[in-house]
Amino acid sequence: MSEERLAFVTRQVHAGKELGGHDPRVTPIYLTAGFVFDDFAEGADRFAGGEGYTYTRVGNPTATAVEDRITDLEGGLGTIFVGSGQAATTVALLALAKAGDEIAAAEAIYEGTRGLLVDNFSSFGIGARFVADVNDEAQWEAAITPRTKAVFIESIANPRNEIADIALIARVAHRHGVPLVVDNTFATPYLVRPFEHGADIVIHSTSKFFAGHGAVIGGAIVDGGTFDWAASGRFAHLTTPQRVRGGHGPGERSLLDLHGSNAYLVHARDDITMRLGPTPSPFSAFLVAQGLETLSLRVERQSANALRVAEFLATRPEVESVDYAGLPSNPYFPLAQRYLPLGQGSVFSFTLRGGEAVARTFYDSLELFTRMTHLGDVRSLILHPRTTSHTHRTAEQLEATGVGGGMLRVSIGIEDPADLIRDLERGFRAVAALPGADAEDAGAAPVGAASAASAAAGASAAPADAPTPAADRAFA
Ligand SMILES: Cc1ncc(COP(=O)(O)O)c(C=O)c1O
Repeated sequence: MSEERLAFVTRQVHAGKELGGHDPRVTPIYLTAGFVFDDFAEGADRFAGGEGYTYTRVGNPTATAVEDRITDLEGGLGTIFVGSGQAATTVALLALAKAGDEIAAAEAIYEGTRGLLVDNFSSFGIGARFVADVNDEAQWEAAITPRTKAVFIESIANPRNEIADIALIARVAHRHGVPLVVDNTFATPYLVRPFEHGADIVIHSTSKFFAGHGAVIGGAIVDGGTFDWAASGRFAHLTTPQRVRGGHGPGERSLLDLHGSNAYLVHARDDITMRLGPTPSPFSAFLVAQGLETLSLRVERQSANALRVAEFLATRPEVESVDYAGLPSNPYFPLAQRYLPLGQGSVFSFTLRGGEAVARTFYDSLELFTRMTHLGDVRSLILHPRTTSHTHRTAEQLEATGVGGGMLRVSIGIEDPADLIRDLERGFRAVAALPGADAEDAGAAPVGAASAASAAAGASAAPADAPTPAADRAFA
């Protein structure tokens, strides 16, 4: 800058200006809306896709640091860090499906994802078909149509701990030229890396185990980089030249020609994320990067603690069932041993005999567990799904998915498990003190019967133009 003395109002925004780093060991927070172009040519070059950053909605070095770390941990080709897990699902699927297309999804998924498909995607003209038994090949065969652009599952499902046979589902999806998208939030790449079993795209709510301390919301889309878009024949927006290109204008050549195996990520970042704008703060990226540094330690401890707590609950006569795949009695135990040998996760449900009234007393008497809708936190948390996350489901749907009045979902933290068990004992004492404590609640769905009903229901179609019943709305 030249030597003349600048005015106060000018100096207050320019004085002390210092760009450039000092090699800090921890990734700095680049809390900036945009990035300086050294000259005219550099601006044009960056907008043409050259090296360097332009604007934080498009990319930011703190976000890149967390993206690179997630890519490495999942074993993928690249990652886009976004503002929430919901944003990650939205971007991942909108980069695959357009109006007139369909998504085939497991019935047992996070309620917010289900709501996104049922309420929001249907209004964009994208339909959803749900599969009741995630590991039933015939049900997937029935749900995948010529319009299907993605198969969507959770590696460990919310809230009942169904473990997906990822390799089996990937085989069915690939037979039809459809990519498999896996929400790996509950498992994290420490417990399972879906790409190693044939998945094509992984998404995360980084609000949960990645951040780990309940202070930040974020999400990630990871591309495995191995799906054959050309051979599939279903993704013209990647394999043929497009009239509209978000970042870089109309193209003479297809994204696949221009970017090869990066085509999906380029489309997801430049045409979807940049346009819809679900941008995280660089501060959020920093917090997730910090959390990732202790991911394995926390997940290992939380899984071990969860097994101890689940074993304890399974011994209690007041408990009708424990949906934890780490218990040998659980139907998903063999799959959990195969896919999750280092630990079976730390979020699971259990059902108290006596229905909602008993669950309420138990829930309100706990002192160490935090009552909240969140998971993957260092602190143990508890939720009553039927009156919170699943409140807008119909009675039939609740019965089919096994979410009864007596069900409670826990997310086990890093505390001493003996303290957690003592807190749960407090809950059982409170229940024992209830007048007529052992009376059955007429409204409670018997869990075993519910599972059978759900498996028998098979794949159910929800075409894009079908009206959505208000009771089907899903909330986070
Ligand atoms: C499995 C799963 N996926 C996605 C989400 C959505 O994540 P977020 O709350 O970060 O938007 C959640 C939230 O609970 C979840 O449990």
